[in-house]
Amino acid sequence: MRRLLITGGAGFIGTNFTHYWADKYSEDKIIVLDVLTYAGNRANIAKLEADSRIQFVQGNICEQELVISILTNNRIDTIVHFAAESHVDRSIIEPNCFIQTNIVGTHTLLCAAREAWLGRDNSPSNHLFHHVSTDEVYGTLDLSEPPCSEHSPYAPNSPYAASKAASDHLIRSYHQTYGLNVTTSTCSNNYGPYQFPEKLIPLVIANALTGEVLPVYGDGSNRRDWLYVTDHCQGIDLIINKGLAGETYNIGGNTERANIDVVKQICAEIDNFFDSRSELKKTFPDAPAAKGNETESLIRFVKDRPGHDWRYALDITKSMNELTYAPQEDLHSGLIRTIDWMIDNVSWWK
Ligand SMILES: NC(=O)c1ccc[n+]([C@@H]2O[C@H](COP(=O)([O-])OP(=O)(O)OC[C@H]3O[C@@H](n4cnc5c(N)ncnc54)[C@H](O)[C@@H]3O)[C@@H](O)[C@H]2O)c1
Repeated sequence: MRRLLITGGAGFIGTNFTHYWADKYSEDKIIVLDVLTYAGNRANIAKLEADSRIQFVQGNICEQELVISILTNNRIDTIVHFAAESHVDRSIIEPNCFIQTNIVGTHTLLCAAREAWLGRDNSPSNHLFHHVSTDEVYGTLDLSEPPCSEHSPYAPNSPYAASKAASDHLIRSYHQTYGLNVTTSTCSNNYGPYQFPEKLIPLVIANALTGEVLPVYGDGSNRRDWLYVTDHCQGIDLIINKGLAGETYNIGGNTERANIDVVKQICAEIDNFFDSRSELKKTFPDAPAAKGNETESLIRFVKDRPGHDWRYALDITKSMNELTYAPQEDLHSGLIRTIDWMIDNVSWWK
């Protein structure tokens, strides 16, 4: 039985992970620590809280005394660290909070974990600090380059990516210097239920359903690997249970696509939803698909983001070989699930 602290458990991936873990390991104790920024929503995990399957603490990972008291009072042995400022566009406009939460916050958690788990003499105890990072730390690729492995050099290009890279280095240093048991997952672009509709896939779905334009940066040729969020949760589960301390594991979806192709695929899937479910025309009367028009007609190319990385791609061979990780969803099945969830949860994203 584990005793987990999940940071950022009211955000997108943290919510999915909290549900995943509470369902799969119902004996485990789970505490969620989340300050509830615009991206956090306590209602996402309210049912688990009401059933006493998790405990929620509203607080900031930068508050070291709070974190130490949570770790010691609850005899936490596993931290799964999602809490972060996560949106690249926001980091370009206002980088300060990215430095604070992603770098200072991660360091504060490490200090607290060191004090609670290793004590003053750095003596070992049964513990794990799992840190969630991003493929953006490796920077951009051109088409001729192979996908990034865990040994690719770091080359972050946005304040967001730089702040995540800094946190990765701190995690590594606490293993090398103090012997803290850490693991890191580097993942590609996640999508699925509970994702704040400022990110590409939920934004496009929401706008397609409400008949608003679908903005696509530049010429839409930027390429990303897409990871359905439950596959990410399974990857983290495998790392927690089978990963080696001090190691980093890439978790991707093996689904690299140009942004414009993803947007067009969402449009086609939404057209199919309206064809097969006539009641959607009443629920979403402003959608082009409700009026017999193609959803693609809403696509508009907009001015590119400054320093926009052209391509991210992850080599997941290590996770497949060493952890038996394998993504279960392809882009078609993952999008169907996501669109279905958004149709059923309009009040959540509105
Ligand atoms: N979403 C993706 O596609 C993606 C891809 C790669 C890596 N990641 C990483 O995965 C993690 C989770 O991403 P997400 O998309 O779920 O993010 P999110 O923005 O949806 O959620 C972040 C959560 O952290 C909380 N939080 C922010 N600052 C905090 C603080 N100082 N103290 C406590 N809680 C705080 C927020 O309230 C929110 O609930 C992040 O570390 C992110 O860098 C995300």
